[in-house]
Amino acid sequence: MAVEIIGTGRAVPDRKVTNQELAGRIDTSDEWIRSHTGIGARHIADENTASSDLGAAAGLQALSWAIEKGAVAELTPAELALTVDVLIVGSTTQDYYGCPATACIVQNKLGVKNAAAMDITVACSSFICGLEIAAALLNTEPRRRRALVIGAEVLSKITNWEDRSTCILFGDGAGAVLLEKTPDNPGTAGNVGRGLLRTILGADGSGWENLFVPRGGTRAPWKKGETVDDGATVVMNGQAVYNFAVGAITDTIAKMMEEEHLEIDDLKCIVPHQANARIVQAAGKRLKIPEEKFYLNLEEYANTSSASIPIALDELNRSGALQKGDLVMTVGFGAGLTYGGNLIRW
Ligand code: UT7
Repeated sequence: MAVEIIGTGRAVPDRKVTNQELAGRIDTSDEWIRSHTGIGARHIADENTASSDLGAAAGLQALSWAIEKGAVAELTPAELALTVDVLIVGSTTQDYYGCPATACIVQNKLGVKNAAAMDITVACSSFICGLEIAAALLNTEPRRRRALVIGAEVLSKITNWEDRSTCILFGDGAGAVLLEKTPDNPGTAGNVGRGLLRTILGADGSGWENLFVPRGGTRAPWKKGETVDDGATVVMNGQAVYNFAVGAITDTIAKMMEEEHLEIDDLKCIVPHQANARIVQAAGKRLKIPEEKFYLNLEEYANTSSASIPIALDELNRSGALQKGDLVMTVGFGAGLTYGGNLIRW
């Protein structure tokens, strides 16, 4: 059996905050942010929006796309939702930390009533990991057929807006893909050449302190009567994460290319986690991969963590840049520190 992507969607808040606007509030400049990261703006959710709101909106778009494009004939989005067997939400910014899973809230909003629902929390690598877990869950049970994998983030609510070294980096948004297990073509063995072909996943927990949210978990829970301090926001050792990221992206692409016997021309494009254009450029330079091979949209959205890759996939899909049969590689890294990549025949 193959596990193919039959729908994509995204949801991004309307409010766009440019570098210039940030420069009016903190000691930074459009020039510094662009030259150090490639970021030009970010979209920021309003006070009442949580990750499940953006995630459900992106999920609905993915269901609708599959119907519009004829992959799932004669169903309404609500009917299609009832046929989804697995719902995975990747998020660093769950509506409620761990209890309940944000996936359960998304399930309720979308009416995906018959699905197992679960969160994946490996930060920016969550979508890459979620795709592999969803495909595995479809493959291990013959009766499971469809899965919705969503990356959803409201990072603006765990951002310290006075810390110029982190607040310029992040944005809010969600992306989603609808997966379908499809039978083997007659005369072909296994899932040759279709859908999710291969995933690489890894972690180096020795680097966890380089990117984390210090307060709110069982190591340092909030105490009654305590005044709110800065601890519920992301702290980061930018240089350490940068160095890890360049190595992890370079190694993951190289491993995938070598083990899957790929030449760069075999790939339509590489969709990296959208954290910093310099990280992608450094990896590209080491691997001698031309910059144009990488799809970058962080100029518009900044780093949306687990949402960045599915948002990019949806843009490529809806613009027609990705066509059936194209080979695309995702690659990313995140807090943990984690990393990975998927190889997908569109
Ligand atoms: O999904 C994973 C998320 N995390 C990442 O991807 C982060 C990876 N790391 C990075 O992208 C980069 O390390 C940063 C973009 C965060 C920082 O870039 P950098 O080139 O490593 O800058 P730096 O931290 O070495 O700082 C250089 C200078 C410092 O000033 P001094 O000490 O040289 O005078 C900083 O204070 O730039 C200063 N600086 C800023 N200046 C203007 C730091 N942030 C800013 C800012 N505007 N926003």
